[in-house]
Amino acid sequence: MSDTPIDSEKRTWLIATSCAGVVGGVATAVPFVSTFQPSERAKAAGAPVEVDISTLKPGEKITVEWRGKPVWIVRRTPEQLAALPKIDPELADPKSERHPEQFTPPYARNEWRSIKPEIFVAIGICTHLGCSPSDKFTPGPQPSLPSDWPGGWLCPCHGSTFDMAGRVFKNKPAPDNLEIPPHMYLSDTRLLIGEDKKA
Ligand code: FES
Repeated sequence: MSDTPIDSEKRTWLIATSCAGVVGGVATAVPFVSTFQPSERAKAAGAPVEVDISTLKPGEKITVEWRGKPVWIVRRTPEQLAALPKIDPELADPKSERHPEQFTPPYARNEWRSIKPEIFVAIGICTHLGCSPSDKFTPGPQPSLPSDWPGGWLCPCHGSTFDMAGRVFKNKPAPDNLEIPPHMYLSDTRLLIGEDKKA
């Protein structure tokens, strides 16, 4: 597994550290900061991944890898949050009531499907056949999307669409909302992905 971040689309470099790791902010031509990962053996065992989200701006997404899966972290804008309740009638499972034990931990069973409204954390794998959906955060008409598109994700494989809370729209092949992984805040700016209980 390389330290190369997954999110090539926005060229956003992840900031993942081991629990003992230290991240220093470094400004370069691209928003590269620094990347430290747990050892290969620890990662294979599913070690939690610590992420510094201090530089994540509204409307931006970073991707980290946990247990071989892409985990998205998005700082949603006030507009994106305000749109969520209005989309409910168009969704297959707006309240995340299907298989909540598998897809939505208790602390994410709310309108925004997250601990803090603005910070969305989800596994970036479509619940249909496992493709990784593409970012389509800009609302409005665009190819492959409805004219009233509110912003979210489009799975390129068979056209499933998800809103900015990872909730799948009605009549799409994906049967469930995107999975929210276990996670917790270590501080206001540090997330731990893969664990949600304090030691
Ligand atoms: S894998 Fe996403 S729609 Fe089929």
